[in-house]
Amino acid sequence: MKLIILVGTTTQTAMGIADAISLACDDMVDTIDVRDMSEADQSVWDEEAVFLICTATYGAGNVPDNAQAFFASFDEQPRYLGHVKYGVMALGDEASYPDTYAMGGRLFDEKLADLGAKRLGDIWFHDASSDVIAEDAGVEWCRDWLQTMVKPTYLIS
Ligand SMILES: Cc1cc2nc3c(=O)[nH]c(=O)nc-3n(C[C@H](O)[C@H](O)[C@H](O)COP(=O)(O)O)c2cc1C
Repeated sequence: MKLIILVGTTTQTAMGIADAISLACDDMVDTIDVRDMSEADQSVWDEEAVFLICTATYGAGNVPDNAQAFFASFDEQPRYLGHVKYGVMALGDEASYPDTYAMGGRLFDEKLADLGAKRLGDIWFHDASSDVIAEDAGVEWCRDWLQTMVKPTYLIS
């Protein structure tokens, strides 16, 4: 099974998490493909994979610049995504932006759910105002997510 991690980032924290996952979780899936969202379009959902949205939040609770075109393309080319299974890693800063905390990931989750995709597990949050080390906590969550949510769904032993 292939895991595609779609990364929305400006200062590369989300990319750091995705890269750490690709190194630390490669024993759990066949392939891990990390992609900057600026290179993604709606054809990505045709790939046989499970998807992980890993994105920061910018502006007034918006997706990062590198994710803007991809996010807009959901409305420009809407299609039913009932075959898609995904997880969400949502980054934000709760102390500085309490009203729009981690909205980037929440927006993707809302959009995917509206189009019929199925989220596996709960959204994982990372708060930049905490002491939690993003890469370490992200890898730990992802290993657990792959084991408890993805493997049973795809019947991988
Ligand atoms: C200009 C600016 C705007 C931001 N807006 C939000 C926001 O609305 N909500 C939120 O939760 N975090 C917000 N953040 C915090 C980032 O999402 C957070 O620091 C994240 O870890 C950055 O990830 P990245 O390094 O992958 O870009 C903002 C940060 C900056 C610099």
